[in-house]
Amino acid sequence: MPAETFYVTTPIYYVNDAPHIGHGYTTVMGDIITRWHRQRGENVWYLTGTDEHGQKVLRKAQANNVSPQAWVDRLVEEEWKPLLDTLDIANDDFIRTTEQRHIDGSKAFWTDLHERDAVYQGSFSGYYSVGSEEFVGDDDVAEGEGDDEGFKVSKLDGSRVEHMTEDNYFFRLSDFQQRLLDFYEANPTFIQPESARNEVISFVSRGLRDLSISRSTFDWGIGVPWDDQHVMYVWVEALLNYATAIGYGTDPERFEAVWPASIHLVGKDIARFHAVIWPAMLMAAGQPVPHQVFAHGWLLVGGQKMSKSKANGIRPDEIVDTFGSDAYRYYFARALTFGSDGSISWEDISARYHSELANGFGNLASRVAAMIGKYFGGVLPAAGARTAAEQKVVDVVAEAVAEADAAIEAVAPQDALAAIWRIVDELNGYLTEQAPWQVAKDEAAGDRLATILATAAEGLRVLAVVLNPIMPKASNVLWGSLGAGPVLGELADQRIDRVAAWGQLPAGTTITKPASLFPRIEASAE
Ligand code: MSP
Repeated sequence: MPAETFYVTTPIYYVNDAPHIGHGYTTVMGDIITRWHRQRGENVWYLTGTDEHGQKVLRKAQANNVSPQAWVDRLVEEEWKPLLDTLDIANDDFIRTTEQRHIDGSKAFWTDLHERDAVYQGSFSGYYSVGSEEFVGDDDVAEGEGDDEGFKVSKLDGSRVEHMTEDNYFFRLSDFQQRLLDFYEANPTFIQPESARNEVISFVSRGLRDLSISRSTFDWGIGVPWDDQHVMYVWVEALLNYATAIGYGTDPERFEAVWPASIHLVGKDIARFHAVIWPAMLMAAGQPVPHQVFAHGWLLVGGQKMSKSKANGIRPDEIVDTFGSDAYRYYFARALTFGSDGSISWEDISARYHSELANGFGNLASRVAAMIGKYFGGVLPAAGARTAAEQKVVDVVAEAVAEADAAIEAVAPQDALAAIWRIVDELNGYLTEQAPWQVAKDEAAGDRLATILATAAEGLRVLAVVLNPIMPKASNVLWGSLGAGPVLGELADQRIDRVAAWGQLPAGTTITKPASLFPRIEASAE
C-alpha cells in the first residue's frame, strides 16, 4: 500500500473579481498546515484553484463587455495566480474549472450519478441568489430594506434573490438524510469546529429537499453529458474539482491513490455545501467521503464581515507591500482563532509586527549572531556542561514543539504559534538572565560563554525549523545565518518530529549576522 496522502484543499474562488484578504486567509492557513505536515515527512498534496462558471461570473463579464472566457482568463492570470506568489504559497496544484480535465471528470461523475438513478428531470420554480449562486427556499426569503428596497433578499446572507422557473435536473438529496445523520454521528470530527457541526446536523435534521443541479437558461457552464440543453449547476460542478483535480474520470489510478481528501478548508458560509451536498453526492456515486470539513470564521473589518460588495475588501498586497508575506502569514495565524470570527486592523498588524516579530524574534536572532561574531569570530563554539538553566531551555523546547505539533494536528495554528512563542520568550529570558555580555568580561569563564551562546544558537535552529511553515522567508534567512544548510541540509527538509533532539547544529559552523529579519516600519494606515 502506498503511503496515505495528506490531501488538503481550499475552496475554489469565484473569479468575478480580484482576491481580498478573506480569500488569502483560507489559502494561507492551508499552506501553513500543509508545510507543517510536509516537515513531518508526510506525503502531502495541497490544492487550490478558481471557480469560473455560473451566472455571477457570467454577469460580471457581460457588464464589462467581454466574453466570460476572456474575463476569467485575465483575472486568473493577472490576479489569482499571482496571489500565490504574494502570499508565498507552496500549493501542489491549481485547478481552474474551465480546464479540460475538470470538464471531462465532471461529465464522468454526472454520467455515473445518472446511471445509478440518483438524478431525475423535473421543473424548478423558486428563488435563486446569483450573489451566492444558491437556491433559496421560500421561507428564507424576505423583503429587502434600505438599498435593497423593492427587491427580495435571502435571509441566509442578505444577497438579492430572483424568482425563476426552469426545467432542471434534480439530485435525490432527500434520500440521504438518514445516511448523513448516521455518518455525522459515527464521525464526530467530520465537520469541525463544533459550532459548524451543530449547525449542519440541525439543518439536516429539519429534512432535505431534492436539489436542482442543472440550469437551462444560460450556457456558461459544463454541459450535462446526456442533455446539451442544460449546464451543470455551478456549485455541484465546483465541488467536483476536489475529485477531478486528482484524476477522477481521467486518471483513475491517481484518484484511487489520493482520494479521499483529508481536510477541506472552507469559510463557514459554505460549510453546508461541503458537509451535506458533497458527501451525499459521493455516497450516491459509491465513493468514500472526505475525512474532514473544517469551517473557519469571518474576517471582520471595522466589526463587519469583509467583502468586495461592501467595499471593505482589502487586497492582500496592500498588507504584504508594507509588512512582507511572512508577517502577513504570521498575523492571520496568530491573531485569530481559526474556526471563529475575528477582527483585524492595520494597527494590530503593526503592533504585533513590532513587538512580536521585530523585537521578540528578529532581535533575538540578530543578537545571538552578533555575540557569536564578537566573542568567537563567527564560529559556533562547543557547549560545555549543562546547568539547570540550559536544561530548562531544552525542556521548554521539547514541550513547546510537541504542543505545537498537536495544535496543527487539531487545525489550531494560533495555538501552535502560542506554543512556539514560548521558545522565543524562553530564549530571550535565558539571555537576559545569563547575560553573556557580562560573562564575556570574565576571561576565566570562556567555557560558560560558549555554553550560553551555543544553547541560544541551538534554540534558534529549532525556531527556524518550526517557524518555516509559517514564515518561510525569515526562517530561511535565519537558517543561512546559522550556517546550517551545508551541515544539516535544506530547511524545508528538516523534520519537525526530530527537531527537538538537542545538539544538532555542530560546533564550528560559520555564523553570520542575518539581514534584519523584520526591519522597523514607519508606516501609517493611509
Ligand atoms: N466558489 C465558491 C466555493 C466553491 S468550493 C467548491 C465560493 N467562492 S468565494 O470566492 O466566494 O470564496 C469563498 C471563500 O473565501 C470562503 O469560504 C472563505 O474560505 C473565503 N472568504 C471570503 N470572504 C471571507 C471573509 N470575509 N472572511 C474569511 N474568509 C472569507 O464561495
